[in-house]
Amino acid sequence: MAIQDIYPTALRLLGRPVLVVGAGPVAARRTKGLLDAGARVTVVAPVACPALTELADAGLLNWEPRPYRPADVDGVWFVQTATGDAAVDARVSADAEAQRIWCVNASDHEASAAWTPAVAVVDDVKIAVNAGGDPRRAMALRDAVATALATGDLPLRRHRLSGTGATPGSVALVGGGPGDTGLITVRGRRLLGQADVVVADRLGPRELLAELAPDVRVVEVGKTPGHHPVPQSEINRILVEEALQGHRVVRLKGGDPYVLGRGGEEAEFCRQHGVEVEVVSGVTSAISVPAAAGIPVTHRGLAKGFSVVTGHEELAEVPARADHTVILLMGVGQLRDSAASLARAGLPLQTPVGIVENGYLPNQRVTIGTLGTIADQAEAAGVANPAVIVIGDVVRVSPFAPSHFKTADYSTTSPNAPRTTKTRVLTP
Ligand SMILES: C[S@@+](CC[C@H](N)C(=O)[O-])C[C@H]1O[C@@H](n2cnc3c(N)ncnc32)[C@H](O)[C@@H]1O
Repeated sequence: MAIQDIYPTALRLLGRPVLVVGAGPVAARRTKGLLDAGARVTVVAPVACPALTELADAGLLNWEPRPYRPADVDGVWFVQTATGDAAVDARVSADAEAQRIWCVNASDHEASAAWTPAVAVVDDVKIAVNAGGDPRRAMALRDAVATALATGDLPLRRHRLSGTGATPGSVALVGGGPGDTGLITVRGRRLLGQADVVVADRLGPRELLAELAPDVRVVEVGKTPGHHPVPQSEINRILVEEALQGHRVVRLKGGDPYVLGRGGEEAEFCRQHGVEVEVVSGVTSAISVPAAAGIPVTHRGLAKGFSVVTGHEELAEVPARADHTVILLMGVGQLRDSAASLARAGLPLQTPVGIVENGYLPNQRVTIGTLGTIADQAEAAGVANPAVIVIGDVVRVSPFAPSHFKTADYSTTSPNAPRTTKTRVLTP
């Protein structure tokens, strides 16, 4: 049979009687699909495999433990025969044909009146693939399409509201990671592909915005330290208002929504206003941006823990030891005060400090110095946000660290090569 000769359609079998003849593994798989579609399944076979007997024992189908009889096809909407005996399957098919009932004959693909596609479900999309009678090819294609849908590489966005009324809107707070488009999660990418409205930060994987469909609305709400053109209360209001209009809203945030990102407030505000909200964790800049400069936030023999804070006020609370890494976000403006606070708390002035500006971006720049020198270096170099400042012995591991920083104490392995070749380095 040529592929052009089949007519793809979808059967709505909910509550309708269907017949499965045979009870081996193939029949069990097909039965499972029919039950998933809500069909009322009768299985006819003298013996059944465990998968089918379990379904029968659970009361999910009616199993007639006997050989097939022609009257079994009477009154059913659909027949699947998979007895493993070609003669029996041919007889069942012929009986179904005589009554104009569609029948899938598992033992004779060519003669079969209907074919079962390879099926996958992603979100509310069901993919069904027929591939010229080659089931493995069909399954491979189905898997590829399902993966591309799941990762957001194919457009899963709704263009028509299903059912009778509008679907309720929702908000997803998606952590976009530090800016590299490869550092957003699969879930985040997929939700972005389904969004009607994207409320976007200044940081994060902004190149993905250019890939959105033309009718997806992008609302820019980006902030810089001390400058909030769209106040947080207004961002909260936009999220709720858009969702209440039935839109799927993605709040695309830099890094992780819950790390110094006010994601908790946004989620709470949405929930208080009856809006369904999902939080999708992201790769925080606090950990990933140092990694972009080859700095691990913990390292055997150098640091067992780390603290992430925004400035010198919180520094009194963190351990002032070179073996406890301190990571400052939004910390450039207060760097001099922060360094002084840590020095007052007892951290030696020789403690290494690394600043990574624009991590993962083409203009990434790394400045390495010590607690005693870093404020002057940063000022001289014009270091600016966005930047992550790392204080502690782990900075010695960076391939950008000057050779006199490297001690025999650390690292039994070589550090990763820097990820971007464009990185500029400033050292004392
Ligand atoms: C408002 S905080 C948001 C942090 C975010 N929630 C996270 O988990 O990464 C913004 C700060 O994150 C840091 N940051 C974010 N992305 C960065 C990047 N690509 N390079 C350097 N710093 C970055 C900077 O310290 C910036 O000022």
